[in-house]
Amino acid sequence: MKKLFVYFYDEIDFKQVFKNPKRWVGYSFILFFFVIFALGIVYLDQIDQFYKNPIPYFEPDSAKLFKDVNLSLGRKVEGVKIEYIKNPTEAMLKRGEEIFRTTCSTCHGESGKGDGIAGKGLNPPPRDFTKKDGWKNGTSIAQIYKTLQEGIPGTGMVSYEFLSPSEKIALFYIIKSFSNEKSEVSDKDIAELEANYKVTQTYELPPTIPIGIAMSKIVNESQEVQTKANSISNLLNDNYIMQFIEDKEKFSAFLVNAKRTPNELEQLLIQNYPLNGVSSKFILATNQEKQLFIEKIKLMSINTN
Ligand code: HEC
Repeated sequence: MKKLFVYFYDEIDFKQVFKNPKRWVGYSFILFFFVIFALGIVYLDQIDQFYKNPIPYFEPDSAKLFKDVNLSLGRKVEGVKIEYIKNPTEAMLKRGEEIFRTTCSTCHGESGKGDGIAGKGLNPPPRDFTKKDGWKNGTSIAQIYKTLQEGIPGTGMVSYEFLSPSEKIALFYIIKSFSNEKSEVSDKDIAELEANYKVTQTYELPPTIPIGIAMSKIVNESQEVQTKANSISNLLNDNYIMQFIEDKEKFSAFLVNAKRTPNELEQLLIQNYPLNGVSSKFILATNQEKQLFIEKIKLMSINTN
């Protein structure tokens, strides 16, 4: 007990500290403790400020992330002759140059260094074709074809799928011409190209229509149905017909859409009940009554056509 006291006495005796300055090192830990404790209190007190983000959270408009298709008529896309993959024709290369000059050079630069005006400020920047490093897909013909076909998602490099196989292959040679690398194409590359993209096969591109236009077409068509239905609805004043009808509007719309051959009409009238606006009375009617109803409808339809 006495020993312990002597030990602490030494420590508490400040004269010792001044005699032997190295002892400050020990005391400094206590100081650190208080400093960190004080910082902790300030941190907890100001925690709202630490978490406050001066830049408001921005969520991209999900409607704009959706990419609509272009309006295009269907067309035939010619496959490339297999021998042209290794030895492109003059005409192919010329076309490739033209596409590069008009489309790609705005970002990738006239000499492929990635220094085009439209590429400034893009992150990641457009690829410098004269450099070997940093390629995401790679530099083989199959890899460059993949880049052109699919683009690099999330970057300025969009898909150029609409170019024909021979144009995409020509672009590979144009890209290669910027570096001093040889544009070697192995049989394995060709097999890979053919397996993934069927480049030698001619195929039909189906026509496409942007959603906006498709929707307005649907609206127009349904407006047409609506006007026709209205004119039919005005003609539906025969008492015999009306006794079998529950909802005049639904029934007129049904008539516009239904084929007007009497046999099928009877079937449709029963199948689509009650959506087509006929009443249960029609379902329960005798065959004779049904026939008369259909005859009258037929006569009326002829009048509206
Ligand atoms: C709007 C600007 C822009 C245009 C136009 C553009 N590119 Fe790109 N391209 C980029 C960007 C940005 C990258 C880099 C993407 C990355 O690093 O992920 C890139 C990368 C590439 C790559 C390298 C892919 C890889 O493996 O890293 C190739 C090849 C390429 N582009 C070819 C073309 C061709 C050919 C055209 C014209 C048909 C074209 N680009 C048009 C912006 C563009």
